Amino acid sequence: MTANIKLYPSGQTVACDSGQTVLEALERSGYALPNNCRAGACGECKVRVRSGEFDQGFVLDMALSQDERAQGYGLMCMAKPLSPELEIEWGTADAKPKLFPPRESQYAVLVDRIARTPRITEFVLRPLGEPMRFWPGQYVLLGDQSRGVPVRSYSLANAPRPDGELRLQVTRVDAGEADTPAGRTSRWLHDEVQLGQQLRFSGPHGTFIGDPAVDTPVLCLAAGSGLAPILSLAEAALRRGYARPVTLMFSAREAADLYDQGLMHYWQARYPNFRYLPTLTRAQQEGVAQGRIPQILGQHFPDLSQHSVFIAGTTGFVDDCVAAARALGAPAGQIHTEGFFAQA
Ligand code: FES
Repeated sequence: MTANIKLYPSGQTVACDSGQTVLEALERSGYALPNNCRAGACGECKVRVRSGEFDQGFVLDMALSQDERAQGYGLMCMAKPLSPELEIEWGTADAKPKLFPPRESQYAVLVDRIARTPRITEFVLRPLGEPMRFWPGQYVLLGDQSRGVPVRSYSLANAPRPDGELRLQVTRVDAGEADTPAGRTSRWLHDEVQLGQQLRFSGPHGTFIGDPAVDTPVLCLAAGSGLAPILSLAEAALRRGYARPVTLMFSAREAADLYDQGLMHYWQARYPNFRYLPTLTRAQQEGVAQGRIPQILGQHFPDLSQHSVFIAGTTGFVDDCVAAARALGAPAGQIHTEGFFAQA
Protein backbone atom coordinates (compact mmCIF):
# COMPACT_ATOMS: atom_id res chain seq x y z
CA MET A 1 0.00 0.00 0.00
CA THR A 2 1.28 3.45 -0.86
CA ALA A 3 0.47 6.00 1.82
CA ASN A 4 0.71 9.76 1.84
CA ILE A 5 2.83 11.57 4.39
CA LYS A 6 1.43 15.04 4.91
CA LEU A 7 3.62 17.71 6.49
CA TYR A 8 2.07 20.15 8.94
CA PRO A 9 1.92 23.16 8.63
CA SER A 10 3.06 23.33 4.99
CA GLY A 11 0.47 20.84 3.72
CA GLN A 12 3.11 19.30 1.40
CA THR A 13 2.52 15.64 0.65
CA VAL A 14 5.05 12.87 0.08
CA ALA A 15 4.32 9.33 -1.14
CA CYS A 16 5.53 6.48 1.07
CA ASP A 17 5.75 3.08 -0.63
CA SER A 18 4.93 -0.17 1.05
CA GLY A 19 7.80 -1.25 3.30
CA GLN A 20 9.37 2.23 3.39
CA THR A 21 9.86 4.15 6.58
CA VAL A 22 8.59 7.71 6.83
CA LEU A 23 12.19 8.93 7.00
CA GLU A 24 13.09 7.12 3.75
CA ALA A 25 10.02 8.53 2.01
CA LEU A 26 10.84 12.09 3.14
CA GLU A 27 14.46 11.77 2.08
CA ARG A 28 13.55 10.34 -1.29
CA SER A 29 11.46 13.45 -1.85
CA GLY A 30 14.28 15.75 -0.75
CA TYR A 31 13.21 16.52 2.80
CA ALA A 32 16.10 16.23 5.22
CA LEU A 33 14.48 15.22 8.48
CA PRO A 34 17.29 15.18 11.09
CA ASN A 35 18.50 11.70 11.93
CA ASN A 36 21.53 9.97 13.36
CA CYS A 37 21.23 6.28 14.09
CA ARG A 38 18.37 5.34 11.72
CA ALA A 39 17.63 2.53 14.15
CA GLY A 40 15.30 3.92 16.83
CA ALA A 41 18.04 4.56 19.34
CA CYS A 42 18.88 8.28 19.35
CA GLY A 43 15.56 10.12 19.16
CA GLU A 44 16.83 12.59 16.56
CA CYS A 45 14.00 11.86 14.09
CA LYS A 46 11.20 12.32 16.64
CA VAL A 47 8.12 14.19 15.42
CA ARG A 48 4.50 14.43 16.55
CA VAL A 49 2.02 12.52 14.44
CA ARG A 50 -1.20 14.53 14.20
CA SER A 51 -3.33 11.86 12.54
CA GLY A 52 -3.14 8.40 11.00
CA GLU A 53 -1.85 5.02 12.15
CA PHE A 54 1.68 3.73 11.96
CA ASP A 55 3.76 0.76 12.97
CA GLN A 56 6.53 2.13 15.18
CA GLY A 57 8.67 -1.01 14.99
CA PHE A 58 11.19 -1.77 17.73
CA VAL A 59 12.67 1.38 19.26
CA LEU A 60 14.39 2.05 22.57
CA ASP A 61 12.48 3.63 25.45
CA MET A 62 15.28 6.11 26.00
CA ALA A 63 14.71 7.39 22.45
CA LEU A 64 10.90 7.47 22.71
CA SER A 65 9.35 7.31 26.18
CA GLN A 66 5.93 5.85 26.92
CA ASP A 67 4.74 9.37 27.76
CA GLU A 68 5.87 10.64 24.36
CA ARG A 69 4.11 7.74 22.64
CA ALA A 70 0.94 8.63 24.52
CA GLN A 71 1.27 12.23 23.29
CA GLY A 72 1.48 11.03 19.70
CA TYR A 73 5.21 11.27 19.10
CA GLY A 74 7.01 8.74 16.91
CA LEU A 75 10.46 7.98 15.54
CA MET A 76 10.28 8.35 11.79
CA CYS A 77 13.39 6.29 11.03
CA MET A 78 11.45 3.17 12.06
CA ALA A 79 7.82 4.24 11.51
CA LYS A 80 5.83 2.69 8.66
CA PRO A 81 2.35 3.97 7.80
CA LEU A 82 -0.61 1.65 8.36
CA SER A 83 -3.31 4.12 7.21
CA PRO A 84 -3.64 5.81 3.78
CA GLU A 85 -2.44 9.14 5.24
CA LEU A 86 -0.16 10.12 8.08
CA GLU A 87 0.05 13.77 9.05
CA ILE A 88 3.23 14.74 10.89
CA GLU A 89 4.34 18.01 12.43
CA TRP A 90 7.58 18.97 10.76
CA GLY A 91 9.09 21.91 8.90
CA THR A 92 7.84 25.46 8.52
CA ALA A 93 4.86 26.77 6.55
CA ASP A 94 6.97 26.86 3.37
CA ALA A 95 8.22 23.30 4.12
CA LYS A 96 11.77 24.40 4.97
CA PRO A 97 13.43 22.76 7.97
CA LYS A 98 13.23 24.41 11.36
CA LEU A 99 16.47 25.81 12.72
CA PHE A 100 17.50 24.43 16.08
CA PRO A 101 17.60 27.09 18.81
CA PRO A 102 21.23 28.00 19.59
CA ARG A 103 22.53 27.18 23.08
CA GLU A 104 24.95 29.37 24.98
CA SER A 105 27.78 27.99 27.11
CA GLN A 106 28.25 24.50 25.73
CA TYR A 107 31.48 22.73 26.59
CA ALA A 108 33.64 20.34 24.60
CA VAL A 109 37.08 18.77 24.95
CA LEU A 110 39.66 19.15 22.21
CA VAL A 111 40.45 15.51 21.41
CA ASP A 112 42.54 15.89 18.27
CA ARG A 113 44.17 18.41 15.97
CA ILE A 114 45.16 17.55 12.43
CA ALA A 115 47.31 19.77 10.21
CA ARG A 116 45.45 19.85 6.91
CA THR A 117 47.71 22.36 5.11
CA PRO A 118 50.65 24.50 6.26
CA ARG A 119 48.05 27.02 7.53
CA ILE A 120 44.79 25.15 8.09
CA THR A 121 44.38 22.87 11.11
CA GLU A 122 41.36 20.74 11.87
CA PHE A 123 40.25 20.79 15.51
CA VAL A 124 38.18 17.83 16.70
CA LEU A 125 35.86 18.52 19.64
CA ARG A 126 33.84 16.06 21.70
CA PRO A 127 30.93 17.66 23.55
CA LEU A 128 30.38 17.37 27.29
CA GLY A 129 26.67 16.99 27.89
CA GLU A 130 23.93 16.86 25.32
CA PRO A 131 25.29 16.83 21.73
CA MET A 132 24.43 19.98 19.79
CA ARG A 133 21.78 19.54 17.11
CA PHE A 134 22.57 21.45 13.96
CA TRP A 135 21.98 21.61 10.25
CA PRO A 136 24.91 20.85 7.95
CA GLY A 137 26.47 24.16 6.89
CA GLN A 138 25.95 25.94 10.23
CA TYR A 139 28.67 27.35 12.51
CA VAL A 140 29.58 27.78 16.17
CA LEU A 141 30.98 30.76 18.07
CA LEU A 142 34.23 30.08 19.90
CA GLY A 143 36.71 32.14 21.92
CA ASP A 144 37.79 32.85 25.50
CA GLN A 145 36.81 36.30 26.63
CA SER A 146 38.27 35.77 30.10
CA ARG A 147 41.70 35.75 28.38
CA GLY A 148 40.87 38.48 25.92
CA VAL A 149 40.38 36.06 23.02
CA PRO A 150 37.50 37.39 20.91
CA VAL A 151 34.62 35.09 20.07
CA ARG A 152 34.67 34.22 16.36
CA SER A 153 32.54 32.08 14.10
CA TYR A 154 33.81 28.74 12.77
CA SER A 155 31.88 26.55 10.38
CA LEU A 156 31.30 22.93 11.27
CA ALA A 157 33.13 20.67 8.82
CA ASN A 158 31.14 17.50 9.45
CA ALA A 159 27.52 16.36 9.28
CA PRO A 160 25.80 15.65 12.63
CA ARG A 161 26.90 12.41 14.31
CA PRO A 162 25.44 10.34 17.13
CA ASP A 163 28.36 11.14 19.43
CA GLY A 164 28.04 14.87 18.74
CA GLU A 165 31.63 15.23 17.51
CA LEU A 166 32.38 18.61 15.94
CA ARG A 167 35.18 19.38 13.50
CA LEU A 168 36.40 22.91 12.81
CA GLN A 169 38.95 23.88 10.15
CA VAL A 170 40.76 27.04 11.10
CA THR A 171 43.17 29.07 8.98
CA ARG A 172 46.09 30.48 10.96
CA VAL A 173 46.38 34.23 10.44
CA ASP A 174 49.88 35.40 11.40
CA ALA A 175 50.36 38.43 13.65
CA GLY A 176 51.05 41.53 11.62
CA GLU A 177 49.56 39.97 8.52
CA ALA A 178 46.09 40.91 9.64
CA ASP A 179 45.80 41.93 13.28
CA THR A 180 42.10 41.35 13.38
CA PRO A 181 40.01 39.70 16.11
CA ALA A 182 39.74 36.64 13.84
CA GLY A 183 43.54 36.59 13.62
CA ARG A 184 43.93 36.63 17.42
CA THR A 185 41.41 33.82 17.89
CA SER A 186 43.03 31.71 15.18
CA ARG A 187 46.47 32.08 16.81
CA TRP A 188 45.00 31.19 20.22
CA LEU A 189 43.54 27.99 18.74
CA HIS A 190 46.71 27.09 16.84
CA ASP A 191 49.32 28.06 19.43
CA GLU A 192 47.80 27.98 22.92
CA VAL A 193 44.90 25.56 23.13
CA GLN A 194 46.15 22.13 24.21
CA LEU A 195 44.77 18.66 23.53
CA GLY A 196 42.43 17.74 26.37
CA GLN A 197 41.54 21.36 27.10
CA GLN A 198 37.90 22.27 27.63
CA LEU A 199 36.48 24.90 25.31
CA ARG A 200 33.26 26.85 25.63
CA PHE A 201 31.21 27.52 22.54
CA SER A 202 27.70 28.47 21.47
CA GLY A 203 25.60 27.42 18.54
CA PRO A 204 24.41 26.39 16.15
CA HIS A 205 24.18 29.58 14.12
CA GLY A 206 23.75 30.46 10.47
CA THR A 207 21.40 29.71 7.63
CA PHE A 208 23.86 28.35 5.05
CA ILE A 209 21.86 25.17 4.77
CA GLY A 210 20.35 23.29 1.88
CA ASP A 211 16.65 23.59 1.18
CA PRO A 212 15.61 19.95 1.59
CA ALA A 213 12.67 20.40 -0.77
CA VAL A 214 15.03 21.23 -3.65
CA ASP A 215 15.79 18.45 -6.11
CA THR A 216 18.36 19.80 -8.57
CA PRO A 217 21.98 19.10 -9.46
CA VAL A 218 24.20 20.68 -6.82
CA LEU A 219 27.39 22.64 -7.42
CA CYS A 220 29.61 23.49 -4.42
CA LEU A 221 32.38 26.09 -4.79
CA ALA A 222 34.94 26.47 -1.99
CA ALA A 223 38.28 28.13 -1.36
CA GLY A 224 40.60 27.67 1.63
CA SER A 225 38.83 26.80 4.87
CA GLY A 226 35.56 27.66 3.08
CA LEU A 227 35.70 23.95 2.34
CA ALA A 228 34.47 23.26 5.92
CA PRO A 229 30.74 24.05 5.57
CA ILE A 230 30.75 22.52 2.08
CA LEU A 231 32.10 19.26 3.53
CA SER A 232 29.31 19.26 6.11
CA LEU A 233 26.61 19.86 3.49
CA ALA A 234 28.03 17.34 1.01
CA GLU A 235 28.58 14.63 3.64
CA ALA A 236 24.99 14.93 4.85
CA ALA A 237 23.53 14.93 1.33
CA LEU A 238 25.57 11.95 0.15
CA ARG A 239 24.96 10.00 3.33
CA ARG A 240 21.21 10.38 3.02
CA GLY A 241 21.32 9.12 -0.57
CA TYR A 242 20.87 12.36 -2.52
CA ALA A 243 20.68 11.01 -6.06
CA ARG A 244 21.23 14.12 -8.21
CA PRO A 245 24.76 15.05 -9.36
CA VAL A 246 26.85 16.78 -6.69
CA THR A 247 30.05 18.52 -7.88
CA LEU A 248 32.60 20.10 -5.55
CA MET A 249 35.07 22.60 -7.03
CA PHE A 250 37.84 23.48 -4.61
CA SER A 251 40.26 26.32 -5.22
CA ALA A 252 43.71 26.41 -3.62
CA ARG A 253 46.88 28.35 -4.30
CA GLU A 254 49.29 25.44 -4.44
CA ALA A 255 49.20 21.67 -4.24
CA ALA A 256 50.02 21.77 -0.50
CA ASP A 257 46.83 23.79 0.07
CA LEU A 258 44.58 21.12 -1.42
CA TYR A 259 43.35 19.14 1.54
CA ASP A 260 40.96 16.31 2.35
CA GLN A 261 42.02 14.75 -0.96
CA GLY A 262 41.63 11.24 0.44
CA LEU A 263 38.05 11.96 1.53
CA MET A 264 37.24 13.48 -1.87
CA HIS A 265 38.48 10.39 -3.66
CA TYR A 266 36.64 8.13 -1.24
CA TRP A 267 33.39 9.98 -1.94
CA GLN A 268 34.02 9.73 -5.69
CA ALA A 269 34.53 5.98 -5.42
CA ARG A 270 31.61 5.46 -3.05
CA TYR A 271 29.01 7.79 -4.63
CA PRO A 272 28.78 7.67 -8.45
CA ASN A 273 26.91 11.02 -8.47
CA PHE A 274 29.78 12.86 -6.72
CA ARG A 275 32.52 14.62 -8.65
CA TYR A 276 35.54 16.48 -7.27
CA LEU A 277 37.22 19.21 -9.31
CA PRO A 278 40.24 20.84 -7.64
CA THR A 279 41.91 23.88 -9.18
CA LEU A 280 45.20 25.66 -8.41
CA THR A 281 45.59 29.41 -8.76
CA ARG A 282 49.36 29.82 -8.31
CA ALA A 283 50.86 26.52 -9.43
CA GLN A 284 50.43 23.76 -11.93
CA GLN A 285 49.92 20.09 -11.34
CA GLU A 286 49.12 17.37 -13.78
CA GLY A 287 45.50 16.33 -13.66
CA VAL A 288 44.45 19.42 -11.69
CA ALA A 289 42.71 22.39 -13.34
CA GLN A 290 44.39 25.77 -13.23
CA GLY A 291 42.86 29.16 -12.59
CA ARG A 292 40.39 30.89 -10.28
CA ILE A 293 36.96 29.31 -10.16
CA PRO A 294 35.11 32.40 -11.45
CA GLN A 295 37.32 32.32 -14.56
CA ILE A 296 37.07 28.59 -15.33
CA LEU A 297 33.52 27.88 -14.15
CA GLY A 298 31.98 28.27 -17.62
CA GLN A 299 34.34 25.66 -19.10
CA HIS A 300 32.86 23.06 -16.78
CA PHE A 301 29.30 24.38 -16.41
CA PRO A 302 28.17 26.37 -19.45
CA ASP A 303 24.57 26.42 -18.17
CA LEU A 304 23.75 26.65 -14.45
CA SER A 305 20.06 27.47 -14.86
CA GLN A 306 18.99 24.17 -13.29
CA HIS A 307 21.60 24.02 -10.52
CA SER A 308 21.59 24.87 -6.83
CA VAL A 309 24.92 26.54 -6.05
CA PHE A 310 26.63 26.67 -2.64
CA ILE A 311 29.64 28.99 -2.29
CA ALA A 312 31.95 29.42 0.73
CA GLY A 313 35.25 31.23 1.18
CA THR A 314 36.49 34.79 1.59
CA THR A 315 33.97 37.48 0.77
CA GLY A 316 35.91 38.42 -2.40
CA PHE A 317 35.87 34.80 -3.59
CA VAL A 318 32.16 34.51 -2.83
CA ASP A 319 31.25 37.74 -4.64
CA ASP A 320 33.21 36.75 -7.75
CA CYS A 321 31.71 33.26 -7.80
CA VAL A 322 28.17 34.63 -7.39
CA ALA A 323 28.71 36.96 -10.35
CA ALA A 324 30.11 34.11 -12.46
CA ALA A 325 27.27 31.75 -11.51
CA ARG A 326 24.65 34.41 -12.26
CA ALA A 327 26.26 35.04 -15.67
CA LEU A 328 25.92 31.31 -16.40
CA GLY A 329 22.21 31.40 -15.64
CA ALA A 330 22.04 30.29 -11.98
CA PRO A 331 18.81 31.70 -10.47
CA ALA A 332 19.50 34.11 -7.59
CA GLY A 333 17.18 32.13 -5.31
CA GLN A 334 19.24 28.99 -5.83
CA ILE A 335 22.60 30.52 -4.90
CA HIS A 336 23.55 30.09 -1.22
CA THR A 337 26.65 31.79 0.17
CA GLU A 338 28.86 31.86 3.26
CA GLY A 339 31.51 34.58 3.18
CA PHE A 340 34.31 34.65 5.73
CA PHE A 341 35.69 38.02 6.75
CA ALA A 342 39.30 38.44 7.77
CA GLN A 343 40.40 34.92 6.95
CA ALA A 344 43.69 34.51 5.24
FE1 FES B 1 17.87 7.75 15.67
FE2 FES B 1 15.54 7.78 14.45
S1 FES B 1 17.42 8.44 13.70
S2 FES B 1 15.97 7.30 16.49
